[in-house]
Amino acid sequence: MTVSIKTPEEQDKMREAGRLAASVLLMIEEHVKPGVTTDHLNSLCHDFIVNELDAVPAPLGYGGAGSRPPFPKSVCTSVNHVVCHGIPGPKKLKKGDAVNIDVTVIKDGFHGDTSKMFFAGEPTIRGRRLAELAHQAMVAGIEQVKPGATLGDIGHAIQTLVESNGGSVVREYCGHGIGRVFHEDPQVLHYGRPGKGLALQAGMTFTIEPMVNAGRRDVRLLPDEWTVVTKDHSLSAQWEHTILVTNSGYEVLTLRNGEI
Ligand code: MF3
Ligand code: CO
Ligand code: CO
Repeated sequence: MTVSIKTPEEQDKMREAGRLAASVLLMIEEHVKPGVTTDHLNSLCHDFIVNELDAVPAPLGYGGAGSRPPFPKSVCTSVNHVVCHGIPGPKKLKKGDAVNIDVTVIKDGFHGDTSKMFFAGEPTIRGRRLAELAHQAMVAGIEQVKPGATLGDIGHAIQTLVESNGGSVVREYCGHGIGRVFHEDPQVLHYGRPGKGLALQAGMTFTIEPMVNAGRRDVRLLPDEWTVVTKDHSLSAQWEHTILVTNSGYEVLTLRNGEI
């Protein structure tokens, strides 16, 4: 495993990529409403990234291997029981639907990766509650980050918060190092034991992106080879930020107007 340490110049480029990725989530907010298709949300994000940000949507054409086709769209849209990697399509959002929009942009060779939950109209009580739990879990993980802390500290903080509130943490997908490469070392698990795993160093950049299910943690991959759903069809929620380890702790590179 080789974990890259970003130079101050590289950190500045990561800051810019992160800021741009966050701006896409700010832009799309007002468009998420009942009746809109996830394809339309994808087009709005794609055009904004390419034309306004002069950046590249990293998911488009990403990750084909063996029998798996490359990802066909520019963002991931994961609705209700979809855990992650939902492919935008012609289905319309209904009132109360919860959707995670996951944006990754490449700017000047560096990646910024972030996602949040949105609701079409008024959320359901369960949907809002699960989204809040997933958000708290992400924040609990982020708050562990400082030089000398370990990846196990992050995973443990997330897992204990989620499980003590009746949710479950998906194990098959995780956060990841990020930089010139979309998914690089280390893997950032959202469960774990305090003090275990890699010790963090200033200059590391990685994502924290817990997927939290209302029911059991088990997932299933759909035949399209991308869409991940909960096996029991329970609701799932996810939030994601790109984080820089600093001398004193952390910097969230994908804040939206200062909001985590
Ligand atoms: N943005 C996702 C992540 O957080 C990865 C999406 S890969 C794609 O790591 F190909 F599905 F877009
Ligand atoms: Co990510
Ligand atoms: Co992402």
